[in-house]
Formats: sequence, structure tokens, C-alpha cells
Amino acid sequence: MSFYLPDTVNCKGDIFKVFITKEEIEARVSLLGEKLDKDFDGKKPIFIGILNGAFIFLADLMRNVSIPCEVDFMKLSSYGDEKVSSGQVTELKEIDAKLKGRHVILVEDIVDTGLSMKYMVDRMKSYEPASVSVITLLHKKDATVHDVQIDYVGFEIPTKFVLGYGLDYAQEGRNLAQIYILDD
Ligand code: IMP
Repeated sequence: MSFYLPDTVNCKGDIFKVFITKEEIEARVSLLGEKLDKDFDGKKPIFIGILNGAFIFLADLMRNVSIPCEVDFMKLSSYGDEKVSSGQVTELKEIDAKLKGRHVILVEDIVDTGLSMKYMVDRMKSYEPASVSVITLLHKKDATVHDVQIDYVGFEIPTKFVLGYGLDYAQEGRNLAQIYILDD
């Protein structure tokens, strides 16, 4: 299998450079999988991926987990086609699974201001699950202004726009196999 791994990317006229390599992502995702195996042993959790950005991280994460588990998806939009959040969360796809009494693991590609994750955690709690945990591949810690719980983090990153491994800029760049950062 050949992955898309350029050194730099021109996306909509902006230049991005490699920030987190494929190998670094793989090592971290494997470690996160081991942690989840331990923490959710005997609990059969349900992963809820937040579309679109989390689809690649979730796919890799689940293949690093060996306990019985399920998956479902919810779709939110807060960025539109811009590099900054619109400040409003729009729900574009609801959950199909029944979550009452379940151990829910929300899977996000990136937590920036924390608005989307706060919305999701509150939303999940309304289904009366047994527990709600949050895992995000990336966290822009200095940008997070909403009071949001994050239980597992792949990488803490600076407050800069990143691209690849599921993350987009105006829907482009999700197919990059590693993470790129705006080169300013
Ligand atoms: P928040 O609600 O401000 O925390 O933003 C979370 C959502 O914004 C993520 O699920 C992404 O879809 C998007 N996002 C935030 N930062 C970036 C970035 O640097 N690149 C691409 N998407 C981002």
C-alpha cells in the first residue's frame, strides 16, 4: 500500500509542512489502544466518531484495540470552510445506536476551542450512558476556552492550523497520511 506522504503541501494557496510523521502517529495510536484495552476491559465500550475529521484516527484506533467494542458516528460542523471556528455547532447526523447504560468513548480528531467537544459530551449525557470518555488525537491546549473533559490525548499541539490524517482545510487534505502544519 502506498500512502500520500509529501514533504510539503499546497492547499488552497497555503503551504503546509510535515509536523507529526506517520511513524509518530502509529506509535501513539498503538499506545492509546493499549490504554483503552486496560481501562475498558469487560465493559464493551461504544466508540462514537465525530465526523468528518475523526474517521481515519478512529479506524486506526479501533484496530489497536482488542477488547469487544462497537462503533457509531455523529456529524458536527463548526468550521465551515474557514481556518477559524464559526463559534456555532451544527448537528448534521444523529447517533443511531442506543446509548443508555453504555460506556461511550467520544473520538475526535482535534480539540481546539473545546466548543464541539463540550456540545458532544452534554449531548451524550442526555442519553444516560454508564460513562462518557473523550479521546482526541490532537489538542490545542492554549486555544481551549470551553470547560471540557479530555481523558486521552494523542499530541498536545500549538495554536496553529493543521492538516492531514482526516483533518481538512475546506474539505481538502484529509487523505494525507501524516499531519502537516501551516508554514508561516
Ligand atoms: P472546536 O469546537 O473549536 O474545539 O473545534 C473542533 C473542530 O474544529 C474539529 O473537530 C475540527 O473539525 C476543526 N478544527 C479545529 N482546529 C483545526 C485545524 O487546525 N485543522 C483542521 N480542522 C480543525
